[in-house]
Formats: sequence, C-alpha cells, structure tokens
Amino acid sequence: MTRDELTRWLTETDPARLTELWRRADAARQSAVGHAVHLRALLEISNYCIRLCLYCGLRAPNTCLLRYRMTAGEIAACAAQAAAHGCGTLVLQAGEDEGLTTIWVADLVRRLKAETGLAITLSLGERGPTELAAWRRAGADRYLLRFETSNNQLLTPLHPARPGQQLDRRALLRTLRDLGYEVGSGTMIGLPGQSFADLASDLLLFRELDLDMIGVGPYIPHPDTPLGAAASHKRSAATQVPADELTTYKVIALARLLCPLANIPATTALATLNPQTGYELGLQRGANVIMPNFTPAPYRRAYDVYPGKPAARDDLEHHWDTLTARLAALGRPLGSGPGASPNWLQRHADTAAERPRRWA
Ligand code: 5AD
Repeated sequence: MTRDELTRWLTETDPARLTELWRRADAARQSAVGHAVHLRALLEISNYCIRLCLYCGLRAPNTCLLRYRMTAGEIAACAAQAAAHGCGTLVLQAGEDEGLTTIWVADLVRRLKAETGLAITLSLGERGPTELAAWRRAGADRYLLRFETSNNQLLTPLHPARPGQQLDRRALLRTLRDLGYEVGSGTMIGLPGQSFADLASDLLLFRELDLDMIGVGPYIPHPDTPLGAAASHKRSAATQVPADELTTYKVIALARLLCPLANIPATTALATLNPQTGYELGLQRGANVIMPNFTPAPYRRAYDVYPGKPAARDDLEHHWDTLTARLAALGRPLGSGPGASPNWLQRHADTAAERPRRWA
C-alpha cells in the first residue's frame, strides 16, 4: 500500500468503503494469526518516571500522583495469579524508573521465569543496550517501546530527550531486534499537530521496522499535564488527526494489512473511549490481543498515564470474568501458551535456515 492509499483510507468516510476495510483487515488477521485472542497479563510495576513528556500523567513534575514501586514479592504473587488464570504472558510495565536497576530487573525476570514459566514482556522505557542485553540473557522475551509519532518535529518538544542524550527510539528498536527480543512499538493517534500524512508515515514505519507487535491508541488529554491543560487550543487545523475511535480502528486495520504477522492489541486507551464495545470492534478490525490489567487496585489507580482507564474501577475477578465473557460472546477462543508473534517466529526460522550457509 502506498502513502497516498494509506492517507485515502485514513480520511475515508464512506460507510461501505469502511466496511470493506474492516472485512479485509479481519480476513488478513484470520489467515495470518488465526482466530485466538491472546491475553497478556499487564502489571504496572512502578509509576516513578524521570521523563518530562508533555502528554503523560506519569511525567516527573506531576506532583498530583502518589508514587509506588512494587516489591519483587508483590510482583511474583501477581505473576502467579496471571498464570493461574491461564495467561501465557506477563507484561511488566513502568515509567522510566532508575530505581528499577539492571540487576534487580534481571533477578526479577529469572525468578518469574523459574516460578511461572510465563513469557516475559518488558516495557520499561528507553534503557541502555547493556541492560537490555542483560535482561534478555535473564530470559526476557519481548520489549515494548512506542515511537509515539514518526514526525520528529512533533515528537521532540512533546518528549524531551534526557539531558545530554539524543532521542532515538528507532535505533533502540533496532538494538532490541538484534538482541533477539520480539519487538513491539506503536503510536498515539490524534496528538495535537499530528496530520494524516504523519499517520501514514507511522504505518509505513511499522512495516519498515518489521515490528513483531504493534500497539496504537488514541491520545487522551490528562489535565495534570502541559499538553492536556492546553488541549482545547490547538485542535483547529484542518489536517489535524482526531483522537477518536474511528481513526484508531482505521490504524489497527491498516497495520494488520501492512504487517499481517504482527500481534496487535485492542488497547486499553481504545477501551477507554468505548468501554462497551471498543475491545470487540478492535478485535473484529485487525487486532488479536487484549492486555487485562493484573495490577493491584491501589497501584492501578496511581498508574495514571491518562484519565478514565476502564479497569481502574473493577477488581481483578470482575474484570477477568467480564472480559472472558465478552470474548466468548464474540465467538473468539482464548489463546493458549506464550503466543509468540508469528512475525518473530518467521524471522527466526529464516535466520536458522540461513545459518549453515553463513557459517559454511
Ligand atoms: N493518552 C494516551 N496514551 C498515552 N500514553 C502516554 N500518555 C498518553 C495519553 N495522554 C501512551 C504512550 C506510552 C504508553 C505507555 O502510553 O504511547 O508509550
């Protein structure tokens, strides 16, 4: 698909054409990754963050937030719960927290692997190559790091680099790939100043990076952030992408068509815009993954990236029962096992097949 075709789909309003897009994305999802929905247990292990991102509630200067860091024991208990519920993957997510040291995370990964056998996904921000390598050696399988928007002019002011460092998430994504991680990235949809051309470039970058996992969601203004407080002023431009449900489904569908073998979640941010049927519509328009939240309730409330996360009000059992009932009603079976990305499996099969030739 060309940039022009992508832009045309992103701005499409004809219901019949959109139905055709959903149908094509659903067919591609079915033939590339099958019918099962993989459930990834999400654990928000720390909301400390040293970064200053103008859009995110976890930003360091936000003093309206009680900060927490879960202990290894608390995390292990939640991991056991996730395994008992039949999840094959645990996602450890946090702000960019320097209190999560190289050794502490490596020990944690080893412990969780030994105790549960779950696949481990890390989502701990921009970390150095040495520690990413150490965590991979400790057994971490996957890493999530959104590039947020491919338009660097838009990103740089919204996501200030760490003092003395160049911002280069793309280089970091390549490092992760070289380390053998399954690599996930993605964007926010509807950032103030984001155009449809930017969104088309984001989609093309998903393909160029050969991503194994792609997570996208609408930008949701947070009142305690500079961007959220200013949100109403900047939305007038005709080229502005709306931070809405429809655009999110379009990006999910187009991501599926461009990267058929990737694992693509229907994200919590999408379900925040449409708590009733956001997950279902995402899963019918290209997505094949849901990330139920296993973070203990008091911590979950404090993991306030953006307001209105639906699970923040529910306890785990209620959240779990509701989610599995909704998937059953949709006629989609639960995935079993780690549910590795078929894109990663294919890349590694190709590498393994090439190896004897290269070594000869
Ligand atoms: N609205 C929606 N998503 C957000 N994120 C951060 N702030 C917001 C917001 N206000 C997303 C970013 C980040 C992920 C963990 O959450 O894409 O990578």
